[in-house]
This record gives sequence, C-alpha cells and structure tokens, in this order.
Amino acid sequence: MSKPKKASKKKTAKKKGSAKTASRPKTARIVVTPPGPKAKAALSRKEKFVTTGMKTTLVTNLDVGEGSFLYDTDGNSFIDFSAGIGVHNFGHRPRQVVNAVKKQADKLFHICYMVSLYDPYTDLAEAMYQISPSRKLKKSIFLNSGSEANENALKIARAYTKKKWIASYKTSFHGRTILDISLTAKEKPYRDGFGPLLPNVLHLDYAYCYRCHLGLEYPSCNLACVDKIKETLESAPYAGDVAAMFIEPIQGEGGFMVPPPGYFQKLYQVCKDNGIVFIDDEVQSGMDRTGKIWAIEHWKTVPDMLVSGKGLAAGMPLAGVTGRDEIMSASYPGQLGGTYGGNPLACAAAIECVKLAKVNLPKVKNVEKVLSKRLKEWYDEIPNIGDVRGRGAMYAIELVENRSSKKEAPQLAAAIQQECFKNGLYILTAGTVNQVVRFLPPITTPTPVLEKGLDIVENAIKKVVKK
Ligand SMILES: Cc1ncc(COP(=O)(O)O)c(C=O)c1O
Repeated sequence: MSKPKKASKKKTAKKKGSAKTASRPKTARIVVTPPGPKAKAALSRKEKFVTTGMKTTLVTNLDVGEGSFLYDTDGNSFIDFSAGIGVHNFGHRPRQVVNAVKKQADKLFHICYMVSLYDPYTDLAEAMYQISPSRKLKKSIFLNSGSEANENALKIARAYTKKKWIASYKTSFHGRTILDISLTAKEKPYRDGFGPLLPNVLHLDYAYCYRCHLGLEYPSCNLACVDKIKETLESAPYAGDVAAMFIEPIQGEGGFMVPPPGYFQKLYQVCKDNGIVFIDDEVQSGMDRTGKIWAIEHWKTVPDMLVSGKGLAAGMPLAGVTGRDEIMSASYPGQLGGTYGGNPLACAAAIECVKLAKVNLPKVKNVEKVLSKRLKEWYDEIPNIGDVRGRGAMYAIELVENRSSKKEAPQLAAAIQQECFKNGLYILTAGTVNQVVRFLPPITTPTPVLEKGLDIVENAIKKVVKK
C-alpha cells in the first residue's frame, strides 16, 4: 500500500515544477518599467563593486533565460533578440546542452588538456573537422573566449609564416585583448587610452557597400575594393611580410555589413598569392547564424583558419581555432595552451551544439524570411532607415538623419533600443558610431514570437523618429 503513495508524491512534485515553468509567460510582459526596484538595488551594488569600465546597457537584473525569453527579478518577461550578443543561437539553455553539462559535471570538471587527455576535447576537435568548410580544416585548439582564440590564431599564423605584419579592417571587431583592439580602428570605446597598442597592424577598408570608400556600386565596381587591398598588400613595407589577414565574413560589431558575391573568393586568392594566412573570425557569424554553419560558406571559400566562439557552446565559455593541418602543425609542443581552454564542461556543451547546428540549420530560412520582409517594409516607410542588410538571422537597419546626407543617427538607434527594452524586447546596437540596430534572435524563435518582437521594434521606431 505504501508504494503507490510514494509514486503519487513524486508525481505531485513534478507537477509543481512544471507548473512553475508553465507560469512564465511565453511573450513580452512588463509589470514594472525596467529598472524595477530589485534591478535598481542591483544597479547600486554594481556601482559600488564593479569597475566603471563595465557598462550595462539594458538595466535590469536577470533571473532566468529560457528558449527565446528572459525573465528578470522584478517579474518582467522579455523576448530576446540579442541572444546574449549572438550566443544563444539555439535559444537559452537548450535541454540537450543542459543535460550534457550536468552529466559531465558529475564526472570531470577540470584537469587541463595540457596535463591529460579527456574525451570531450578530442571529440569536439573531431566534430569541428567534420563541420569545417569542405572538411578541409583538420586540427583545432580550444580557448576560453573569442578574444583569446584570435590571439592564438595569430600566434599560429606567425609561427607558420615567420612574417611580421597583420592585416585587418578599420571597422572590424575581434575582441578586447591588446591584439584584438589593435586590429580594430574604432577608437572609442575600445582603444582609447589603452595604448601603446601592437605595432605592425595594417587597417584596410571593408566592403561597406552602403558607404563605399571608393564611391562605387556593386556590380559595376568589379570588386575594385579588393584590387585596392591587393595593391596595398603588395606594396612596401607590407609586400612579402604579412603573416595574416583577419576577416569577419559579415561584420558583427562593425554593423552587419555583408560583402557582395565574389568578394571573399577574390580576397582569398590575393592572400594565397602573397602567402598570407586567411583567418576567418566566425565568433559572431558562425554556428548557423547566417543560414550556413559558417558564414564564409556563402562565398564558397575555405579559409586557412576559422575562429569560433559564442554559439559554439551556448553560453559556456569556449572558443576554437580550427585550421588547415600544415598551418596548425607549425607551432611545436608546449607553445600553445592555457589552464581552462577546452574545459570538459564547455566541450560537452559544444558537442551538443554541433548536433543542434546540424538539426536546426533549416530553421534559419524562416527567420530570414520574417526578418527581411518586415525590415524592408519599414525601409519603404521610414526615411531614417538608410539601409537594411544581413543574412539569415543576422540582420540590421542603419539609422541616418536622412537618406541623402547618410549622416549616422546613433541617437535614434539608442532611443529605439531603450524603447524596445521598456516594452519587453532585448535588442542591440552596433556600427562605427553605434548607428545600427541589429537583430540576432535565436534561430529557434517561433514565428509568432518573432512577429511580436518585430511589432515592438516597429512601434519603437515610429515613436522615436516622430520626436
Ligand atoms: C567577430 C568577433 N570576434 C571576436 C569577438 C570576441 O569574443 P569574446 O567576447 O568571446 O572574447 C567578438 C565578440 O563580440 C566578435 O563579435
């Protein structure tokens, strides 16, 4: 008689748990305009104990992330179009990832791959080869962040080429270390006051077609911007002495610029002809975000090295460098590593993310359809939207004062972001002077949730541009 009683107790407990989950609204619901009282208290503690250099844009205090939604400690529910800056490509805490991390946590937290082998690291390295463009990138190393991964990519490229110069774009973003901030030319806030930075960095112009630095238009330009890059790379003092070219296939923080067809094929050839290692930074654009596992695949280009991060491990701190065998074999044993890079928990998460990337890839088409349709409709209606661009679930609008001057309107982008936030939507800005509103929803976001989030943005834009 006692057995059935126990079972029914268990059932009740389970029901309670699921009732709690079910009670979280699956939409945007603001019960107190953020920051609410609990968020304000958290903010004042932040101001006391956290460095001023750490700015928080959307001030609330989060408690739970689940699928496409965020929940704060004041009882507000938000739709998330930020995905933790492009991390939650498959939504917050995908069940498979949570289970894999829990399982791994019960076995091995840490030992360091430099000390002994463990399967999650090696399995992930093999998986990265399997999903690399055209299966041409054979070997990997895992690190803690995109920034650290770019550092390692450069070390490997220098070991391979024995050359000095590093090329990148003025509008690029590759992270926050001294190398990474040397790679971008955006002074504020990234570089300002942090010099001296690394020498021997060459800043080039990206294919920012909306503001073409050559004043040309695709396709009649015949990709003259690549010819210009070639000319520079083949002139003194760079000629024959450039180790690596860092590219983002679609620029992230720079403002979601998408180079035209043929661009990277042509650029890769220039690098190849000059013995320059082509480093494809896919920290933001990778893991399905643009409708291919890696964005560079849109240009049918196989890079020499691919840098991954963010979506790779669904929020566990992990990044990777995956490259051609001969390049990845250029450094000798002991030259690369780090205590935590490729931690077992993070690798266990990433192995699940690779599976999720394969399964969920077709969903990006729908997200792109919904996003691009609405954004283009707004473009037709609102003259402050100067440009709509993007790929897959990585879309943006560029705000301008008017279309003829193209003068950037960062104040509009910031006001739209805050208005969205007040109405229950997380969205981010980007761009050379933060004049861009970028859309990075999880690719698993259901269509009605996408539409609801877009309604919030549309109302915010209309309200803000009227002022
Ligand atoms: C393209 C790109 N590379 C590198 C990084 C740096 O990655 P992390 O913040 O993990 O160091 C970022 C971060 O936004 C990024 O967008």
